[in-house]
Amino acid sequence: MDYIAIARQIEDKGIKDIDIAMVLGSGLGFLADEVQGKNLDYSKIKGFPRPTVEGHGGKMVLSNINGKNVLFFQGRFHYYEGYSMKEVVIFPRIAKLLGGKLYLVTNAAGGINPDFKPGDLMVIEDHLNLMGTNPLIGKNYDMFGPRFPDMTEAYNPEMRKLMFEIGDKLGIELKSGVYAALTGPSYETPAEIKMLQTLGADAVGMSTVPEVIAARHSGLKVVGVSCITNLAAGVSKNPLSHEEVLETTEKVKYHFGKLILKFLETVVI
Ligand code: HPA
Repeated sequence: MDYIAIARQIEDKGIKDIDIAMVLGSGLGFLADEVQGKNLDYSKIKGFPRPTVEGHGGKMVLSNINGKNVLFFQGRFHYYEGYSMKEVVIFPRIAKLLGGKLYLVTNAAGGINPDFKPGDLMVIEDHLNLMGTNPLIGKNYDMFGPRFPDMTEAYNPEMRKLMFEIGDKLGIELKSGVYAALTGPSYETPAEIKMLQTLGADAVGMSTVPEVIAARHSGLKVVGVSCITNLAAGVSKNPLSHEEVLETTEKVKYHFGKLILKFLETVVI
């Protein structure tokens, strides 16, 4: 991936000097349509990964929120779609090259913690990389960061604290927990969920972790929020479906949007 050539094209189209990049998870993309700003379709950028679902192009939107330039990515690239890890981590890499300091990730996740229910929002405290690979494998990109990046406090404690303060102010209850990433695309078996629970996971999903590794590699601060869209396999008696995931995100849209926008307004970069 020629990240520099991609970043140059994006800058030439007027998207630059960003402060924050934010990726919108499954069913949460609406936020990019609600903010005012400069839109750029991924398809307009040479070398950018091509979405696997025709007609779901994916785009970025640069919006100024309370004096901060926030770049929203609507439509992410998942490992299970067949993208390489180098493609999967394009957002944090581009964010870094465009001047970003903070990477805000969101996703849809299954709830493992028995205290969680569908519709809950979970601030990510830490993660388990169970994808069996790592986006930094291969020659190190020294321009981004070191060969062996530290992952202590991958999710920035001050940013997490601010997210909770904003949740409190808005009367939105937030959970906290560990996000485990598997490749998917099949959902987990009940035995796998039991295993994940034993390992200390509170939620499970198929994204985010590679991006966070690449973000930390390049020194971006990270903060993440998972939308618990369903109870994980075996925790729930019902079969899992993508429809349920989308139904839940539809229900929490309003709260989620309020929380994120208030966070973006308030955060000091
Ligand atoms: N498992 C994995 N990924 C998910 C889930 C789940 O239960 N829900 C939403 N994304």
